[in-house]
Amino acid sequence: LDRISQDDSSSARKSPLGDLGVIKTLDGSHTLYLKDKDETYHSRHGAIQESRHVFIEAGLKPLVETGSKEIQILEVGFGTGLNALLTYLEAEKNEISIQYTSLEAFPVSSEIVSQLNYGDALNAKAVFQKLHALSWNENHRVSEFFSLQKNQIKLEEFGSDKKFGLIYFDAFAPRVQPELWTEEVFRKIYKLTASDGVLVTYCSKGDVRRAMIAAGFQVEKLPGPPGKREMLRAVKK
Ligand SMILES: C[S@@+](CC[C@H](N)C(=O)[O-])C[C@H]1O[C@@H](n2cnc3c(N)ncnc32)[C@H](O)[C@@H]1O
Repeated sequence: LDRISQDDSSSARKSPLGDLGVIKTLDGSHTLYLKDKDETYHSRHGAIQESRHVFIEAGLKPLVETGSKEIQILEVGFGTGLNALLTYLEAEKNEISIQYTSLEAFPVSSEIVSQLNYGDALNAKAVFQKLHALSWNENHRVSEFFSLQKNQIKLEEFGSDKKFGLIYFDAFAPRVQPELWTEEVFRKIYKLTASDGVLVTYCSKGDVRRAMIAAGFQVEKLPGPPGKREMLRAVKK
């Protein structure tokens, strides 16, 4: 369970989620496409554009601007590692200390990762490779400002005494994974969130917003990235 090498030894293979393909989105950056579920890991309008908009601009930036110097981030769905890479770059640029904990139930194989163009697009090829090469279920100090712990576990099974100041909620859409967008799941996330902590997600469905509110969050709709009208930002008051 705790080493990536399960995937390293073999050539391309099916993901436990089915056939996985690399596709180009409209901003030129790649994303992954799950054929059986007709679902992509990011917006087809632009993967990097969407991740920046939802997780960096609406999530991380406001915390940096209010003077936070140390931020604990919890990500649901490590996937391609794009959010982690963008966050690493922000930590370096702003010289803020980030502990990034990410959960991933179905790690993407290194064979697929090696095809993704995020390292080139963001001029951070070595770091991108490094984030993926790190062993699972251990904390790694990647740089002075950025530490990463990737946990190979389902959100449903994850527990921690830590409180997170920022949650990147980046599971597959409710159409594909309705079980992850429920009041019960958001109650669990609420408990893991520090007071004044923030959750951001690309999803803006009414049911999802109501489930977050029922779990105790204050929720606002924000303009979404190109191709999407709205996104959600939830705060634990
Ligand atoms: C929309 S993708 C986004 C991933 C990632 N943030 C990225 O930028 O590539 C959703 C991710 O959540 C993972 N996932 C699905 N179910 C999960 C669960 N129950 N717990 C944790 N991760 C899960 C998927 O395997 C996938 O990698």
